[in-house]
Amino acid sequence: MLLLGISAFYHDSAAALLEDGVLVAAAQEERFTRKKHDEVFPANAISYCLGHSGRALGDVDHVVFYEKPFLKFDRLLETYLAFAPRGFSSFRLAMPLWMREKLRQRQRLVKELRRLEPVDIGDRLLFAEHHQSHAASAFYPSPFDEAAVLTMDGVGEWATTTLGHGRGTRLELIKEIAFPHSLGLLYSAFTYYTGFKVNSGEYKLMGLAPYGEPRYAPLILEHLMDLKSDGSFHLDLSYFDYCTGLRMTNGAFDELFGGPPRNFDGPLEKRHLDLAASIQAVTDEVVLRLARSAARVTGSRNLCLAGGVALNCVANGKVLRDGPFDEIWVQPAAGDAGGAIGAAFTAYYELQPDIERTVERPDGMRGSFLGPSHEQDEIARRLRACSASFEVLPDHELLSRTAAALADSQAVGWFQGRMEFGPRALGARSILADARSAKMQSALNLKVKFRESFRPFAPAVLREDVAEWFNLDTDSPYMLIVADVAEARRRELSPAEAELEGLDMLQVERSEIPAVTHVDCSARIQTVDRETNPRFHALLSEFKRRTGCAVIVNTSFNVRGEPIVCTPEEAFECFMATDLDVLVAGNCYLEKTAQDPSLATARSFEPD
Ligand SMILES: [Fe+2]
Repeated sequence: MLLLGISAFYHDSAAALLEDGVLVAAAQEERFTRKKHDEVFPANAISYCLGHSGRALGDVDHVVFYEKPFLKFDRLLETYLAFAPRGFSSFRLAMPLWMREKLRQRQRLVKELRRLEPVDIGDRLLFAEHHQSHAASAFYPSPFDEAAVLTMDGVGEWATTTLGHGRGTRLELIKEIAFPHSLGLLYSAFTYYTGFKVNSGEYKLMGLAPYGEPRYAPLILEHLMDLKSDGSFHLDLSYFDYCTGLRMTNGAFDELFGGPPRNFDGPLEKRHLDLAASIQAVTDEVVLRLARSAARVTGSRNLCLAGGVALNCVANGKVLRDGPFDEIWVQPAAGDAGGAIGAAFTAYYELQPDIERTVERPDGMRGSFLGPSHEQDEIARRLRACSASFEVLPDHELLSRTAAALADSQAVGWFQGRMEFGPRALGARSILADARSAKMQSALNLKVKFRESFRPFAPAVLREDVAEWFNLDTDSPYMLIVADVAEARRRELSPAEAELEGLDMLQVERSEIPAVTHVDCSARIQTVDRETNPRFHALLSEFKRRTGCAVIVNTSFNVRGEPIVCTPEEAFECFMATDLDVLVAGNCYLEKTAQDPSLATARSFEPD
């Protein structure tokens, strides 16, 4: 059975192709349109998925959309009625658009699909529920035959948090917390209030948290939310405006936290760092309580996570360490893009209730390397067409020159194999650097990524060596778990260093791998496996052979405000527009000093 899953029209549109229960291709539309979080119909992603498998739309048994437009409309309508007349003006403004866009989503999908290929897909178009899609994306590709499944996000149709139980081919949602009570929206309210962009700035807020003190956490728990011991909660809506207005928070919120929201270009003060730490502490507590109650209700020892909140790797790390589960697995595309995968899996098992499910090891995501790739000849031809100067090296020389460049503090663009699905670069479209270099974090942020200097970088480490460097000894292939740097690798701080506060803490070298050690000595870890990620594993092994260090910086191959590069041309353009020293694309080795500087296109980078 061939199923095409689609998520679209909200943010992070994507497509995924499931062939007889095996995920064969998946991609986010933003990588093709070059518009970050693009929400358009994912025409390019669909064409890629079908083309990759040599299939056409006519071969597909069912197209499955990741949510039910009518349920969502129902929620929007009821919300506005419940909050009338306060919400009436924005209701009146938004209503004609919804009438057109949401109610006609089915026709729109049929029309868009027909534009791709002149076949009528109408009777083969199915709809899964939003949180069912998230839950299915977390459970079916997981390495577990049986698991508790938690989904947490802003909002889908009605649900914002669900607890499910998966066993074999069955996945049952048992409990839910419904809109407007939402952990995702609460986190987004703080994202908005601290001056970052909702739906994309949440990472920044999480990155800021270690610089602050969680002194507002009691205030949040006392006024904004009524948190029960089982992790369920109610928000006090008199502090928020997301039900009725175009802002997330209101005057009562401002008063509670001592002032108006920060402007995106305003100064980051201690207060903002403390707010970041506070909402993180509250999120950790909610997720931990939800996890404990999930274990109680299902009796399971395994936990699967999805939904945008599951990208909060700090909370995930806490659940792994302090929670009741032996193992946790997080869908790497935990946000709405991953809904495309879950929608396809849902249909696969619901349409064939008697089919067997084979649990794949290490999991069914293939390292998340589900996107487009380019043959060596094609990479060389396309780079030549860009007037790039390069050498084509055999594997062993390619790895040894790249490892030497890294050890020499050079920043390397690494473009290899199939592109990752989900927000993280995992060694296919990555920027790599030496984690031992103290200057690397700010150098990379300022000169390569063009972003704020406090933004942390994440380490990639050989799976077999992870316990030597970090307080972690499990797989974390998708960079979704935070754990501390091992004590033996840390540096003792001088009294003056220990006293520094806020963003000044950034100047202190805390371990042997300062470029990936956050100010609280934690790190967001990617473990690199020989089987799923052989070339990246070989590079790390070569770097270790030269330096004794099994850890390097791995960050996504893009600059601020832009999606991760997809093609050789985009990799070359990004290489030329930034202070990257080396680009390794397939077996092509490019040094910046060998390029014609006039090939760099002047770029202005939008804030993200
Ligand atoms: Fe969602």
